[in-house]
Amino acid sequence: MQQINIIDAKNHVNEEVKIGVWLTDKRSSGKIAFLQLRDGTAFFQGVVVKNNVSAEVFEFAKKMPQETSFYVTGVIHQDQRSHFGYEIEVSNLELVGTSEDFPITPKEHGIEFLLDHRHLWLRSRRPYAIMQIRDQVIRSTYDFFHQEGFIKMDPPILTGTAPEGTTELFETDYFDTPAYLSQSGQLYEEAGALAFDKVYSFGPTFRAEKSKTRRHLTEFWMIEPEMAFMHQEESLDIQERYIAYLVQAVLDNCQYPLKLLDRDPQILQKFTKTPYPRISYDEAIKMCQKGGIDLQWGDDFGAPDETYISDQFEQPVFILNYPKTIKPFYMKSHPTRSDLYICADLLAPEGYGEIIGGSERETDFDQLKANMEASGLNLADYQWYLDLRKYGTVPHSGFGLGLERALTWICHLDHLREAIPFPRMINRLRP
Ligand code: 4AD
Ligand code: MG
Repeated sequence: MQQINIIDAKNHVNEEVKIGVWLTDKRSSGKIAFLQLRDGTAFFQGVVVKNNVSAEVFEFAKKMPQETSFYVTGVIHQDQRSHFGYEIEVSNLELVGTSEDFPITPKEHGIEFLLDHRHLWLRSRRPYAIMQIRDQVIRSTYDFFHQEGFIKMDPPILTGTAPEGTTELFETDYFDTPAYLSQSGQLYEEAGALAFDKVYSFGPTFRAEKSKTRRHLTEFWMIEPEMAFMHQEESLDIQERYIAYLVQAVLDNCQYPLKLLDRDPQILQKFTKTPYPRISYDEAIKMCQKGGIDLQWGDDFGAPDETYISDQFEQPVFILNYPKTIKPFYMKSHPTRSDLYICADLLAPEGYGEIIGGSERETDFDQLKANMEASGLNLADYQWYLDLRKYGTVPHSGFGLGLERALTWICHLDHLREAIPFPRMINRLRP
């Protein structure tokens, strides 16, 4: 008899199969037991009819506790009432591993309790659905950049520099000199773009965020493309094509996870239409002021401000050209507005706020050096980066997408902590 995974049930209707499973929930009467089963690939129901199995098997079905592992044998049938669409009519059950007092019961639990038990909580439907979509977004990221002619170039994780400012660095001892866990691969990707034209990185990123917000992790995953001979306009085109591609891939391949999350595909469908609207920072400030928000020109947007702005649009929206005082040194100066950089943040709709930050990069050696001095950077640490402007400098642009930010929006979650298997936050290092 063939051993299969639940996810492949549709290919085995009316066949007898064997599946390795865990019990998530059950209910039974005198003559029938309904077992809610999972095997990691999907969730479905096993129906055990007393008259069709041995007395021992029926006893086992009625008595086994949650998260008992076993082999189930039976015939696959369609089951229109369930999200999944199939069930198994059980003929045999074989115990593999016992389980007692599993902490994540089918009732509601507090978020801290769930996070303390994340290693077990992962087995539930909601984390399952989110991780399926996370996997789809990861795969589609590789597909997209491959199709667009990029190569993946991995930047170091242990670094000697701080591209995004020095306040949020995780420092570690590197043979008696300080090293920092990477807070962005960008500067290395710039070197890569000048070597290989179009590159991207996709890796863990570390920021010692002391704030407890629903949008900040201390360890998150970032996708950072960087393109040579490219100005900001073309980079924005790539950004919106990329986001639309990700959403379309989730719609095409993740119907079941979306159903489990109760995420309406019709809402997502709206985000596959490009171009996305673009407004300037100046306009965004005015928009906030009109909405009664107390913001002055020169202020950075806080999470509630971004929520307000993105709520004014049906699609993701780009905010262009921020004041220099609130953005990092590597961005290109605006040609006619010396107080601005050529940069953009992409805000997700439905109030989710920034998911992408990007810019054209400063190509001029002297201007870049001046920016770095003004930011108080130790130039000796950045000689290699300045070299990129000495030997054939070219216009280049890039951006960074926070994977968990994008997922939180696509899955319509309340907090980033559910978008990563084992979240790291100011008060959480375990499990
Ligand atoms: O806007 P950020 O800081 O930009 C950069 O790091 C640039 N070097 C990117 C580039 O141009 N190559 O971060 C980029 C994105 C944000 O838009 C957000 O989605 C995500 O990274 N991000 C975080 N995600 C989770 N937790 C945090 N603490 C994050 N900080 C930034
Ligand atoms: Mg940013």
